[in-house]
Amino acid sequence: MSAFFEVSGVEGGYGGGRVLNSVSFGIERGEVLAMIGRNGVGKTTLMRALIGLVPLSAGSIALDGVELGHAKPYVRAQQGIGYVPQGREIFGMLTVAENLQVGAQANRAQAAEMKAKVVEYFPILKARYRQKAGTMSGGEQQQLAIARALISAPKVLLLDEPSEGIQPSIVTLIGDTIQRIAREARIGVLLVEQDMGMVERIASRCCVMDKGRIVDTPSPAQLGDEQLIRQYLAL
Ligand SMILES: Nc1ncnc2c1ncn2[C@@H]1O[C@H](COP(=O)(O)OP(=O)(O)OP(=O)(O)O)[C@@H](O)[C@H]1O
Ligand SMILES: [Mg+2]
Repeated sequence: MSAFFEVSGVEGGYGGGRVLNSVSFGIERGEVLAMIGRNGVGKTTLMRALIGLVPLSAGSIALDGVELGHAKPYVRAQQGIGYVPQGREIFGMLTVAENLQVGAQANRAQAAEMKAKVVEYFPILKARYRQKAGTMSGGEQQQLAIARALISAPKVLLLDEPSEGIQPSIVTLIGDTIQRIAREARIGVLLVEQDMGMVERIASRCCVMDKGRIVDTPSPAQLGDEQLIRQYLAL
């Protein structure tokens, strides 16, 4: 039986150079799977391959039984893959409301209903609704980036280092909200993270990446083992 989101034997890279080496995993609805690994092992490249910004040279990506491995990024978004890139990439000159409007384009039918939901998950956005996004704090911008992906009602959500550059108390808030979204909206979440506290707190399973491959699948409890983590992340 294949998983709700099934990634199988994925290979790809930049300009003929291969970064990803037969990456396979599955994510079920409502589940948070963490992907950890040192800098430069290919975590972002994997995310980009899943949304279609890096072409696959081998493998397949199926969501809810639909093969998307060679579909364009906007088609994958319409089919239910939501993506929050590393560094957030919100539109700083646009307001919070306008950023959300951009996110809603992938699924206009559900946007009105989802808009109410995302401000419930991230109430700070309501207070900042007419503010230019670039003037907000890093934590607020990250919440906007997640909300912008969520507003098109994705079936799976790809989050690339949502804790990066954010103060610890907000990291906890964002982590708990991600977990709540997965559980309540039955969304499968792929969480790329180097913040092991966040991974231990919200992930139900974990994969370790090294040199473009998945090399281990420790239990979240094992992530409390500092020595093991040091080995995985080569700290
Ligand atoms: N646009 C690009 N063109 C060519 N090579 C790239 C490009 N982006 C990344 N790479 C290379 O691909 C490899 C994987 O990089 P990637 O950004 O996927 O790693 P990462 O695990 O996300 O790292 P980090 O933890 O620093 O975000 C690295 O060797 C990197 O130099
Ligand atoms: Mg990265």
